[in-house]
Amino acid sequence: DAARPLEGRIVTISAGGTREPLDPVRFLGNRSSGRQGVAIAQAARDAGADVRFVAAHMDIPTPDGVILTTASTALELRDAVFEAARGADILIMNAAVADFRPSEYADTKIKKKDDVADPVIHLVRNPDILAEVVAERNANDFSTLPPLIVGFAAETGDAETSVVEHGAAKLARKGCEMLVVNQVGSSLVFGQDTNSVTILSADGTQPVEFSGTKTSVAQVLIETIAARVDSLDK
Ligand code: C5P
Repeated sequence: DAARPLEGRIVTISAGGTREPLDPVRFLGNRSSGRQGVAIAQAARDAGADVRFVAAHMDIPTPDGVILTTASTALELRDAVFEAARGADILIMNAAVADFRPSEYADTKIKKKDDVADPVIHLVRNPDILAEVVAERNANDFSTLPPLIVGFAAETGDAETSVVEHGAAKLARKGCEMLVVNQVGSSLVFGQDTNSVTILSADGTQPVEFSGTKTSVAQVLIETIAARVDSLDK
């Protein structure tokens, strides 16, 4: 069915931003709204896929007609993504994962005291979930982790290196099959309804460039993924 190119496929999508707690009331977070991830989940669902949606913190409601799990921190998201990715055909790693978390968590609220020096927050690295899923899949010939893994990247480009060159380097580094590069310019994508993307594929097919609403970006991405997942079967 041309209108439902993902019929019979299982698609796992992570979305939203993680929060890394400092104490019971405070956290380090990011500006991810979850909008693009929700649009991708809806497009995948409408393309006939069974969608497993792993939601970190989002500004908007999660989509209907999907299997939902939630996660707050990067470590929780790692467990949720691995569980939801097993047996899936496609993993789309859209969540904004904190690269670092506070090294210590205070069980009680950190108080301001006039007699002590300004507090310092120490950070430690979080795991790179995308890279870990790829590595675990590639280490096992009979892995049930998805054969098609799609990462996201927000790039700005600079004088020497274009956005696409940065993206191609990241695609190679992460080892996934596709990378959706978001052009983040002076007007930030976060929380907006539109997006400007380049979809890069590790198999050397031409990059797909597209700008439009997050809904139309999601549709283009799902079409590109559907074409790719069919070619993996052959
Ligand atoms: O390296 P960078 O953060 O730009 O990579 C972004 C991609 O990697 C996204 O797909 C994001 O979901 C994923 N990621 C991850 N774990 C991290 C950081 C990013 O899975 N700790």
